[in-house]
Amino acid sequence: EQAELGAFTHYMEKEIFEQPMALENAMRGRFSDDESTSKFGGLNLDAREFRHVDRIVFLACGTAWHACLVAEYLIEKYARIPVEVEYASEFRYRNAPLDKNTLVFVISQSGETLDTLEALREAKRKGYRVLGITNGVGSTIARETDGGVYQHAGPEIGVASTKAFTSQVLIGGMLALHLGRMRDLSFSDGREMVKAFRSLPGLVSQVLGQAEQIKEIASRYTDYEDFLFLGRQSMFPIALEGALKLKEISYIHAEGYPAAEMKHGPIALISEKCPSVVLSPHGDTFSKVLSNIQETRARKGRVIAITSAGKDFPEEGADDVIHIPHAHDCVMPILATIPLQLLAYYIAVNRECDVDKPRNLAKSVTVE
Ligand code: G6P
Repeated sequence: EQAELGAFTHYMEKEIFEQPMALENAMRGRFSDDESTSKFGGLNLDAREFRHVDRIVFLACGTAWHACLVAEYLIEKYARIPVEVEYASEFRYRNAPLDKNTLVFVISQSGETLDTLEALREAKRKGYRVLGITNGVGSTIARETDGGVYQHAGPEIGVASTKAFTSQVLIGGMLALHLGRMRDLSFSDGREMVKAFRSLPGLVSQVLGQAEQIKEIASRYTDYEDFLFLGRQSMFPIALEGALKLKEISYIHAEGYPAAEMKHGPIALISEKCPSVVLSPHGDTFSKVLSNIQETRARKGRVIAITSAGKDFPEEGADDVIHIPHAHDCVMPILATIPLQLLAYYIAVNRECDVDKPRNLAKSVTVE
């Protein structure tokens, strides 16, 4: 085991640091020669069939479900196709009406999650084309879908998913580009997106380069028992994912919320005992999220802000500030995920938790 871990203490830590390579592997050979769109060999759908898709339903569990939520934002934004995201376990027992131009996607790191598999079978039983995004080469889900995309992220051993998540989000973004270029997205906008995806491994390495600073911040947040994670638009699913990571490995109660919803409930929880991690990169809702931070601090809640480097986040605006590079919107969810993984990891290590094998959790849930 030690040989495999090399300089790392845990698999989760190793996998967090493997993300530049995992992202590189998810992109390899998947852009057009003119670098204006993405291409996927395994989807088994021709261009005409793709153009007829008028609705996409994503099904997954756990972290993969969060990746679906990011894909929803990106596909609606860049390809203008309505997307719905559903927990596989709920979809199975609903009689969801699908029409013939609906495409169903399942996302699963392992390719073996039973609820996801059964949801896939249910959709196929009803006659829908089901595609998959999975890291599990030759897995049951890979075999039973009508086509799909392999993540090629390499084995993920830590129970809490890290590199598999960011690679799923990347593939969701590349899918948005692919579908967008068949519709309204221009050649130059497509090129901008490809450029942004290509820059990701380097940008993620930059964020990983701040691990020491994040470790130091984590040391000041180890003893809390409640956390809020807030974000808007594509940062909302990242807030959910940040909360899930912390809860899975450190056993701290954490909730993710759309930042604007805090006034409808979570604000009642804020006190000096409940810090918030606020995703506040530069963008349309930046000033609104800043006022959420002020409201939080006015109630004595400590704030860790994740914001864009070189933009106008006010000095002293938060108790702790982590900067991520300012990049194209389509890659910001991935960049914002990295500090949340590191925060959860260092907090769990400080609390002496079994990071790679958290209590009660399994890497792949093959029971119902
Ligand atoms: C378990 C794992 C999670 C994972 C979820 C779905 O709960 O602990 O990390 O996100 O299953 O797994 P899948 O393999 O389908 O992505």
